[in-house]
Amino acid sequence: MPKAMILGGDTGLLGQALTKELRKRDWDVSTLGRADGDLLDYDFLESKINENSPDYVFNTIAWTRVDDAEDNFDDACALNRSLPDSLARVISQRENTRLIHYSTDFVFSGDRSAPWKETDAPNPESVYGRTKLEGEKAVLSLLPDRSCVIRTAWLFGPGRKNFVAAILKACKEQDLLTVVDDQYGSPTFTEDLAEWSAELAEKNATGIWHGVNSGQANWCELASEAIHIANCDCGIEPIPSSGWPQKAKRPSYSVLDNSRLADFLGRKPRAWPNALRDYIFSYFFKEEER
Ligand SMILES: NC(=O)c1ccc[n+]([C@@H]2O[C@H](COP(=O)([O-])OP(=O)(O)OC[C@H]3O[C@@H](n4cnc5c(N)ncnc54)[C@H](OP(=O)(O)O)[C@@H]3O)[C@@H](O)[C@H]2O)c1
Repeated sequence: MPKAMILGGDTGLLGQALTKELRKRDWDVSTLGRADGDLLDYDFLESKINENSPDYVFNTIAWTRVDDAEDNFDDACALNRSLPDSLARVISQRENTRLIHYSTDFVFSGDRSAPWKETDAPNPESVYGRTKLEGEKAVLSLLPDRSCVIRTAWLFGPGRKNFVAAILKACKEQDLLTVVDDQYGSPTFTEDLAEWSAELAEKNATGIWHGVNSGQANWCELASEAIHIANCDCGIEPIPSSGWPQKAKRPSYSVLDNSRLADFLGRKPRAWPNALRDYIFSYFFKEEER
């Protein structure tokens, strides 16, 4: 049975889905997070990994507050670049451990209208995107044969705040929501991503992968579909990004092409509206009841 250590596995949106998926597959899973100590301390990180001696390390930890990153470059850099760099260094000293690291669609600039492939040149326009790209590079250069970087996007799932949950909660308090309709991306269910991640790890995949559900949407379309599925009585008004100023620049088009993943899996990742339906019916309503 493979042994995995999941950074962020107790509390992160993706980390929790991964922990659940790998345990379902009977992997021997342990988690590592902020509560265990300072993961930015190299010696501490090294001792934890060597003590646990995992076959696979999954790193879901990141500075994910995209706007706050603009004013907190050093902190964002520490989590998004230095932590994966340290992980790759520790793992490179071990014989058989592999690293699965996560990155983002925000490494792309958005200046086009066809899905981005793994081979396309990144051009991030935010601190978050730049620091995540640096993290990717560190992992791939230090561990080319024993790592994979999975870029994902627009995550929704149980256990932590996310856009879909925020929209459905807002519907209870407001009759009309305004949502941006000029940024396009790839909405993705954490549970689906966890499943693909396990399959990539099991087959020792290397390199960059785009791990997203199929199809594309703008934020307004994603919100509308969630409201429709949840049968909420709330209107939605599309607005341009200029009507919703944000500190960090977002790509206008960061849809990821998942055909490399589809070829690897032997099946196309399901369309995001089907995954969204699963999330809302299996989790969102139940979380609301609690
Ligand atoms: N969410 C998205 O829509 C999205 C989109 C594209 C890419 N991604 C990428 O997917 C991966 C997973 O994202 P996510 O949405 O699951 O992230 P998340 O829910 O924000 O979780 C981040 C994790 O990092 C931990 N963390 C933050 N600061 C820490 C620190 N100083 N020390 C130790 N742990 C710390 C958090 O722990 P606490 O709970 O203790 O804070 C949490 O476990 C990341 O690489 C992210 O860049 C996410």
